[in-house]
Amino acid sequence: MIDDPVLLNDWHAVAWASQIRDTEPTPIRLLENELVLWRNRDGLHAWRDLCVHRGSRLSAGRLTNNCLACPYHGWEYDSAGRCVRIPAHPEQPPPARAHATVYVVKEKYDLVWVCLGNPAKDVPVFPEWDDSSFEKIMAGPYLYRAHGPRVIENFLDVTHFPFVHAGYLGDPSEAQIGDYEVEEFDGGIIAKDIPVWQPDPDGTGRPAKVFYTFHVLRPLTAAFTKVHGENRFSMFASVTPVGERESLAWLIIALNYAHDAPAEELLRFQDIVTRQDIPVVEAQRPELLPLDLQAELHLRSDRTAIAYRQWLKKLGLRYGTA
Ligand code: FES
Ligand SMILES: [Fe+2]
Repeated sequence: MIDDPVLLNDWHAVAWASQIRDTEPTPIRLLENELVLWRNRDGLHAWRDLCVHRGSRLSAGRLTNNCLACPYHGWEYDSAGRCVRIPAHPEQPPPARAHATVYVVKEKYDLVWVCLGNPAKDVPVFPEWDDSSFEKIMAGPYLYRAHGPRVIENFLDVTHFPFVHAGYLGDPSEAQIGDYEVEEFDGGIIAKDIPVWQPDPDGTGRPAKVFYTFHVLRPLTAAFTKVHGENRFSMFASVTPVGERESLAWLIIALNYAHDAPAEELLRFQDIVTRQDIPVVEAQRPELLPLDLQAELHLRSDRTAIAYRQWLKKLGLRYGTA
């Protein structure tokens, strides 16, 4: 079992909210736990995917009487998780122990967020979501057979663009990265104005130097904004550990230009870029991100990764680290 108090008490993105309908329950996994998401008139619910009667999966059940009914003997659970009807004994009030295990759940940025413990903070902020000058595109979830910290560190790394994403986000003959600063902010990390040369930063076909600013918001959630003149391209990335070496990356792209460009095109581009990253991240050894800075080599251009590792160490993140 993934035993990590930091992640246990954090919010995790587990589904696109619009895909959880009030017609059927949905099974999901989070930190090696099996959960069921379901929606009724009272809202959205995230429970342990287990019926206390004989251990059946509630996600295989059905919605009836504004309740979730177990598929095995039909026990009906209400919005609070209380069993309110046992069909074999309709005249008898169900015992108090007949209760589902209920987790806190929230909908934000069209994502369903679940916390298995007591959330220490709110869901991470993504200011572009409420800014109507930005068009939003959802991408993923992308499955990485890797630990979350390696996935986030790859997201924060601009020096791989010319090699892993040659022709898309970089060019091997223009691989030099300019200097930049990294600092802590508001419980996270900010890496400011990283100058990066790109072959076609905003779809006009013209190469340019752009500036990336990264915010690490949580151990497994980060965002960047890429600035080129007036154009801003942001990406919010939250990585959810579903199993020990299985991470789902949920991405939200927000851009304040090219609103006439078809969303499918941007999505296709993102799919290509992510598929270039996945095998690289999955092949990294050691699989656990070394928080001891002596363990791997670090250069000036790795400042964001250095700060990320130091910060994870300070937070005491156990999962996916060594
Ligand atoms: S196992 Fe769920 S009602 Fe019996
Ligand atoms: Fe990449």
